[in-house]
Amino acid sequence: MSFSLEGKAFAVIGGSGFNQFPELNIHETSVIETPYGLSAPAVFGTLSGSDVVFLPRHGDGHALPPHRINYRANMWALHSVGVAAVLSVNAVGGIRSDMQPGSLVLPDQIIDYTYGREHTYFTGDEAGVEHIDFTEPFDPSWRSALIHLAERNQHELIAGGVYGCAQGPRLETAAEIKRFERDGCDLIGMTVMPEAALARELNLPYASLSVVVNWAAGLSPGAITLEAIYQQLESSIEDVKSFVEAFARSVGDSPPP
Ligand code: HPA
Repeated sequence: MSFSLEGKAFAVIGGSGFNQFPELNIHETSVIETPYGLSAPAVFGTLSGSDVVFLPRHGDGHALPPHRINYRANMWALHSVGVAAVLSVNAVGGIRSDMQPGSLVLPDQIIDYTYGREHTYFTGDEAGVEHIDFTEPFDPSWRSALIHLAERNQHELIAGGVYGCAQGPRLETAAEIKRFERDGCDLIGMTVMPEAALARELNLPYASLSVVVNWAAGLSPGAITLEAIYQQLESSIEDVKSFVEAFARSVGDSPPP
């Protein structure tokens, strides 16, 4: 693995249906105070010998819709506790024909359709102005390490894809999905932005493990039901956890440098 955590913890950001991680050997849970307000409760623990910080982005009880999440506080908190990398778990709708419900995808690109979110630390004046490079929105070597791990463990993972980030909280119209497809989106979700850009502003390696929980609007007959989404999430989150556990184990197994 060319990517090294250098003995530090890695973070997992939990999304819809993944607000708790009871498999962690939990040492402490704390809400972290940041210059941007309070983070979601960060859970510090170990998993298969590796240090993990688990942060459910919507809060404990999925209290916050995607546009009201304090992304700046969450990412600042993870940076301030010194994690080496962030694996963000995002529930999404599938657009590309091979990204059916149940698929796990590690996207490599983003198109951002969100608006009105606090999306940068560089707000001018004392905070300064900086234009980060975002050509590759997900950290390439962190992604490669995860892809490599999936191959080694025969975890089914689709490597690559364009994540369209919609504002929500409503789901899309069928016409919007056709437009996103014409734009080149393979997946549609609501939470990867501004998270990915904030991670880059903090120089924090970031990748998204996108969990396809439904066909995007208009791609299957009838309405999308929350019931079906939650049913899919329940089984997919088990796959996500086993992926994270395998990663934790592989970190624990690495010989010291
Ligand atoms: N659209 C946007 N966000 C989502 C979807 C969807 O279809 N499914 C899960 N998150």
